[in-house]
Amino acid sequence: MTDFKRYLVTAALPYANGPIHIGHLAGCYLPADIYVRFQRARKKDIKFICGSDEHGVPIQIRAMREGTTPQAVVDKYHKLMGDTFEQMGISFDIYSRTSNKIHHETAAAFFKKLYDDGLFEEKESEQYYDEKANAFLADRYIVGTCPVCGNENAYGDQCERCGSSLSPEQLINPRSTLSDAVPVKRKTKHWYLPLQNYEPWLKEWLLEGHKDWKNNVYGQCKSWLDNGLQPRAMTRDSSWGVKVPLPNTEGKVLYVWFDAPIGYISATKELTEQWGDYWQQNDTKLVHFIGKDNIVFHCIIFPAMLKAHGNFVLPENVPANEFLNLEGDKVSTSRNWAVWVDEYMKDFPDQQDLLRYVLCANAPETKDNDFTWKDFHTRVNSELVDIFGNFENRALVLMHKLCGGKVPAFHADIADKADEDLIAAFESTKTKVENLLEQYKFRDALFEVIELARKGNKYMQDKEPWIVAKSLAEKPANQKRIDNCLHVCLQLTANLAILINPFLPFTAKKMIHKLKVVEKMLEWENAGKAKLLSVGYSLREPQLLFRKLEAPEIQAQVDKLKAGLVKPANAANSAGKDAKEAPASTEEAPASPVKAEIVYDDFAKIDLKVGTILTAEKVAKADKLLKLEVDLGFEKRTIVSGIALHFKPEEIIGQQVVVVTNLAPRKMKGIESNGMILMAEDKAGKLHFVNPNNKVDEGSGVS
Ligand code: 2FM
Ligand code: ZN
Repeated sequence: MTDFKRYLVTAALPYANGPIHIGHLAGCYLPADIYVRFQRARKKDIKFICGSDEHGVPIQIRAMREGTTPQAVVDKYHKLMGDTFEQMGISFDIYSRTSNKIHHETAAAFFKKLYDDGLFEEKESEQYYDEKANAFLADRYIVGTCPVCGNENAYGDQCERCGSSLSPEQLINPRSTLSDAVPVKRKTKHWYLPLQNYEPWLKEWLLEGHKDWKNNVYGQCKSWLDNGLQPRAMTRDSSWGVKVPLPNTEGKVLYVWFDAPIGYISATKELTEQWGDYWQQNDTKLVHFIGKDNIVFHCIIFPAMLKAHGNFVLPENVPANEFLNLEGDKVSTSRNWAVWVDEYMKDFPDQQDLLRYVLCANAPETKDNDFTWKDFHTRVNSELVDIFGNFENRALVLMHKLCGGKVPAFHADIADKADEDLIAAFESTKTKVENLLEQYKFRDALFEVIELARKGNKYMQDKEPWIVAKSLAEKPANQKRIDNCLHVCLQLTANLAILINPFLPFTAKKMIHKLKVVEKMLEWENAGKAKLLSVGYSLREPQLLFRKLEAPEIQAQVDKLKAGLVKPANAANSAGKDAKEAPASTEEAPASPVKAEIVYDDFAKIDLKVGTILTAEKVAKADKLLKLEVDLGFEKRTIVSGIALHFKPEEIIGQQVVVVTNLAPRKMKGIESNGMILMAEDKAGKLHFVNPNNKVDEGSGVS
């Protein structure tokens, strides 16, 4: 169905365990807000839903760290987060919270329906338990020494230093992050949603029906589905959360990833009595804005829950963003490597739109991106101030100076191609921005708006009304040329206010104030029009939309960031502060298709070069090893490679390969190997060379 009557837009419910940082904004709240503001300007029936995710281990760990109760933690951060969103102009229709009664009732009823319909599997299993803290432990909350690389702070599910997948049993000296106690195993009963039963339907609905989803989202879903789904426990042993609505289940709550997305439904219930229209009518367009770490929950698990329940609409799209790094490094709450939005607001009062602008212009839409203060400085000064702000200001200043403070007439008799081209660009920009926003391409859409302002600057520069004004004494008819130029520039200014409004609402407001028009002018249908401002209408005095940022204030931010950097003493700290809810055990988690994330700098350390195999021979007393001589152009290397079961030595002479050239030398069967050859392993375990399509020079870099 494409003819949607109403929109329901959700933004991931953030855990109420810390302040909001720029990664949160760029990841989902800002794009969601831009989308919603755009649809509201088109007069669509739309509801924008969010709230605090107040359950789960992340909250409990935070409470322990702060020496307080989970309730105190969520009360503190729910307020701070809600205020921050409001200050940044994130225009939720409701910012609710999952500790509300209505949410507990809604989530419990949802669970009960699935239970009554016999859709859960009941299973008893052994799970890790912290006897000091009296709590069962998710694998993520057990730390110890990695058996592979010796990292003393490896998690029970993964070592973040070497990327190895682990189970708590493999850790040397395991300890609980809650109390430092050595975890023990205990029996417990839980209710599992057999996700594998939904696999055929998910493949049809998602892989066949939603090929239009963003590549990063579709690709991740495909990978999860290709790997096969497993039953997932929908309950946990904990005292904090929505109580399991079944008899004799004391100490058990709903899994936070079961209850949190239902929070979208309960918040809509809280917002409007018509909630059923939004959630249960097929002509609703449901869009979930999230960050990439939430993809599996919103694209696979929650849809399976909705399908199982049967009474709800399914998401039409899930435009997840990738991550925003900071100054080349991953944002980390535990290391305090973050730009906190509430602090930004104190340091740059009333400058929300500068941050909104940079976070959108540099949004991590298709890949992880980096926020740097230098880039913030450059983009604000050279794009927002020099292009957009400058155009608007010059149009108003010149109108006051050369046209008596009133919108001048447009004299069709002297209109030229430059006027026509610029006026035509109003409409074409509107169409481009519209199409891009419908495709969730917010960066490109914003670029088009700035591009239109750039065209305005060029037009004004070419027309030079200030020079024409000098000729008025001898040629009074030239006033018509000045009028035309400023008429077009002012109409463009009004258009820019409409087009920039979804992105920079505070700026749009300032613009319409100066243009002395009512907010209604910002309705989207007005964009593209060349007669928004009436001739003879007097406008307010110009006032700069933005001020230029100075180098010292930017340096102060860099210094503040570096001075605040904390090196965590142990992983317990970081699990507490960066804590994300983890599955109860590794068995139930669908295997992640990718290793732990790295930043570009990590990748850049690896030197990859193309080489050609010159000789190959079997290594004595080693079935699997071949000794190769590889020509790298600048030198020849001996490399020992474990490929003997897959290739005969004589077959691979002349074969081009990709070599990791800066791997530390390693001795194998007494032979020093100076590099490693990249190989692809297919599902059947067969190895294939990774090499360039066509022959290239030895020593060519690979990146
Ligand atoms: O990743 C997070 O911060 C989660 N609290 C997101 C939950 S989104 C939804 F399901 F509520
Ligand atoms: Zn390791």
